[in-house]
Amino acid sequence: MSFSRSAHPRCDHTPAWAALQAHYQAAGRSFDTRQAFAADAQRFSTLSQSAPHVFADLSKNRVDAATEALLLDLAHQCGLEAHRAAMFDGTAINTTENREVWHVLLRKPAIQAVDSAGAAPEKIAIELTKVHATLDAMLAYAAQVRSDAAITDVVNIGIGGSDLGPQMAVLALDAFATSGKRLHFVSNVDGHELAATLKGLKAESTLFLIASKTFTTIETMTNARSAKAWFAAQGGTDTARHFAALTTNVAAANAFGITTTFGFWDWVGGRYSLWSAIGLPLAIAIGAGGFRDFLAGAHAMDEHFRTAPLEANLPVRLGLLDVWYRNFHGFTSRSIAPYHSALKRYPAYLQQLEMESNGKQVDTEGQPLPYATSPALWGEPGTNGQHAYFQMLHQGTDVVPVEFVAVKKARHDLPGHHPMLLANVLAQAQALMLGKVDAGGHKNFPGNRPSTFLLLDDLTPASLGALIALQEHRVFVSGSIWGINSFDQWGVELGKVLAKDIEPRLASGDVAGLDGSTAGLLGLLL
Ligand code: F6P
Repeated sequence: MSFSRSAHPRCDHTPAWAALQAHYQAAGRSFDTRQAFAADAQRFSTLSQSAPHVFADLSKNRVDAATEALLLDLAHQCGLEAHRAAMFDGTAINTTENREVWHVLLRKPAIQAVDSAGAAPEKIAIELTKVHATLDAMLAYAAQVRSDAAITDVVNIGIGGSDLGPQMAVLALDAFATSGKRLHFVSNVDGHELAATLKGLKAESTLFLIASKTFTTIETMTNARSAKAWFAAQGGTDTARHFAALTTNVAAANAFGITTTFGFWDWVGGRYSLWSAIGLPLAIAIGAGGFRDFLAGAHAMDEHFRTAPLEANLPVRLGLLDVWYRNFHGFTSRSIAPYHSALKRYPAYLQQLEMESNGKQVDTEGQPLPYATSPALWGEPGTNGQHAYFQMLHQGTDVVPVEFVAVKKARHDLPGHHPMLLANVLAQAQALMLGKVDAGGHKNFPGNRPSTFLLLDDLTPASLGALIALQEHRVFVSGSIWGINSFDQWGVELGKVLAKDIEPRLASGDVAGLDGSTAGLLGLLL
């Protein structure tokens, strides 16, 4: 199937965009959620949505049925459905790199290869065969590591998507960790991180996983070389047993001296790679069954996104809400508030997912855009955030939509904690919306501060998979409306090139040709 972006108008050239602008002026800018609840007894049910493993309450947002209807018009006029179909069918919608965007295939059950409704079933079948062969091999290896009592520590060396995904998921699913292994994650080129990790490890009981899609990333290669040198210095010899590589560039891993490798494909974007061999640390932690549940949860969300009508499609509703807030209300950020301490790396994971995907200033043809794209994402687990920056969320001059995540079931048995945690997340969402009038000024809460509430029954491999897939697809939706390529990341290149130029100057002291500030700072670092 082919998808042509030019067959659809740019979002700001659609009738729906103009209608949304008028709607914002007439009703959106003065919209008061409290009044909306008073006027509509059904508001909670019409603005909430069940999706696989995730219930979402959107009713505390500055939207109503009229807003959603116009946003859906926008989605139709921008060709969202065709774009979504193109992703699932394996069209090369990552046009600047001429690649398919096919992470959904990584969680598609093998059996569906033959009955896919997609337009390219043979291609899907071929790729899916490779996916499942690698998955089976990777899970068998995970089982082997899990049963190898001599290995006590597993160190994942990777950065960006080759770190944030597995790290976030391993922490989130700690309650399901049954391997008895200690998992460590080293990403930063700052040697303090690797040195601190290596302290206390022994070569004979450590497995290093070198996770890099490209196997060229400078941070990862530097850490991998240092780990290899440390291993040899500790008397380690059996590299095949103590090093494995997770990469699309198996040849480079072999050249590096690693023979145990698990591959993936260039149609897996770095920030979408958790479902591939990059998920090996998670598979080691929770086992093959848990990892397959994780994939199944994501697949259930994929099917929801692929088949549910747009008005009852949670990723679509969230992505359109993001557009409404960014382009019409002008909100510049979103705060991520997971009320579960195991989701401590979830905000960081979402930062890469959304900001690396949609932090773009040109359309798919490279033409500058006159409207805003990715918001900044930031956050900390609740209740910690409440005692840090929630002051600003409640009483600051900027409106920051908040996205809460709460989990009904606790997996500890300490009395009192979980009801207190749940009371706090409910209270924060309530306080943001209701506010409080206080004539004295300092104690006045304006209220009408929007939030979305995502609710899981339990934090399990399946529900985490669904939650992350939900986030991937909502980023797809806003990026699709904005007409950008959400799947490249050219913005990370310039800094890499300049670092290569600067590094030798730190030894030579040569500041020729540098700007005044960089030259001045470099002088201080000599
Ligand atoms: O930050 C740029 C980036 O390419 C990310 O997209 C990616 O997740 C990260 O670097 C790591 O890349 P690799 O897995 O190739 O080492």
